[in-house]
Amino acid sequence: MNNAFLKSYQTLAEVYGKGAFSSITLNKTLAFCKSQDKALITKIVYGVLDNDIKLEYIISHYVNKMPKGDVLIFLKIGVYCLTELSIPFYAVVNDTAELSKLSGDRYVVGFVNATLKKISASVADFDDYPVDPLESLSVRYSYPLWALKKLVKDYGAQTAEQIVRFRAEHGQTVRFVNKVDVEAVEKQLGCKAQITPFNDAFIVQGGNATQSAYYTAQSLSSMAVARICAQKLGGTGRFLDCCSAPGGKVVYVKQLCPDIEAVARDVHPHRAELIRKYADRMKTDVSVDCQDMTVYDERLDSGFDVVLCDVPCSGFGVLDNRPDIKLFRENKDISELMKLQYAILANCSRYVKRGGYLVYSTCTVFDNENGQNIRKFLKEHDDFHYGNIRLAEFPDADGANFYQFLPHKDGVQGFFVAVLNRAE
Ligand SMILES: C[S@@+](CC[C@H](N)C(=O)[O-])C[C@H]1O[C@@H](n2cnc3c(N)ncnc32)[C@H](O)[C@@H]1O
Repeated sequence: MNNAFLKSYQTLAEVYGKGAFSSITLNKTLAFCKSQDKALITKIVYGVLDNDIKLEYIISHYVNKMPKGDVLIFLKIGVYCLTELSIPFYAVVNDTAELSKLSGDRYVVGFVNATLKKISASVADFDDYPVDPLESLSVRYSYPLWALKKLVKDYGAQTAEQIVRFRAEHGQTVRFVNKVDVEAVEKQLGCKAQITPFNDAFIVQGGNATQSAYYTAQSLSSMAVARICAQKLGGTGRFLDCCSAPGGKVVYVKQLCPDIEAVARDVHPHRAELIRKYADRMKTDVSVDCQDMTVYDERLDSGFDVVLCDVPCSGFGVLDNRPDIKLFRENKDISELMKLQYAILANCSRYVKRGGYLVYSTCTVFDNENGQNIRKFLKEHDDFHYGNIRLAEFPDADGANFYQFLPHKDGVQGFFVAVLNRAE
């Protein structure tokens, strides 16, 4: 059996069947794979999830009754490889039929084989997309219709199309604690590296950045938010990260400003533990506790120069890393998330010292979770006004009160950040 197909199927079954996070599940799979299979497994797993709506749509045109469960996963792997990868058709059909033997059902094997043969004969010319322009865009770029409608409302049709069309190149961003150049990075990680707008971060293909104290995997968007907080701290004072796990931002802020007191909170005990482990690994001193940050705690009142609310969100800005978000999120989740985000923001604003800063961030692109929360907050809190983002490496954001990063425009994940200042 083709090992890359087998491992891809096993990973996808975890995501589709159990709702597992794609990035975490894939990393676990890759840890036990031969290096020659890793690139193909990554392509198939991310590709199938990213193209899920389109693949189901194509399959539905070739079957009388839509299959479910594992049979549908076998077909999605096959159709993805037929339509997006340059593997000979006969090999895709054979390897997928072989894979479907895992079902232990001869009928399933025959069905998968026959369906893929039929699809491979005409899929190159497939153009039977919905007539409605938005529905067509939703299928072609596998972006849920409800989410696409939100983008059109927030950004207009043209930008919405650019957002859903764009696909980022896959690669990992690795941040180094000490000053290094590309040659040193390539030598240390044993793979090709590329510079980024931040002089301490590099994009690498391959390598493992999860074990060292000297470098770590961290996205540019996460780094940008941490740098904005560090700039407001100016090297001293007290910093509170209210939604801190797994600790990416608080650890970086502490490394940028070693003399500050860094305090991290998260509502889930197992996630608070992740912050402790990460801070230990990076040899930084962060005070970690488990706490629900929607509930007022007078011990924290007016105690911090900078408070970061990096709130839980729908995650539609990080689809490159988590394409499974498109499968499981629903429109109704957004209003629940907005309530939680606002509750955290409103409560934690009380922990900002007079004259201090409140930084709000998400990794999503919907105005409901971003600008709308900030506008409501400022309306209801007249002791706060807008402050300025300072981020020289991103001139469009530098000097703004808030900024929505978009992957197709800014070359980083889609995240939002706003800086608010508490009156003296
Ligand atoms: C976007 S993640 C934070 C990422 C983190 N700032 C980093 O850079 O690694 C949001 C976090 O908020 C936490 N969270 C959710 N509800 C919370 C609450 N009521 N109080 C505190 N933390 C909460 C979640 O457990 C999750 O770890």
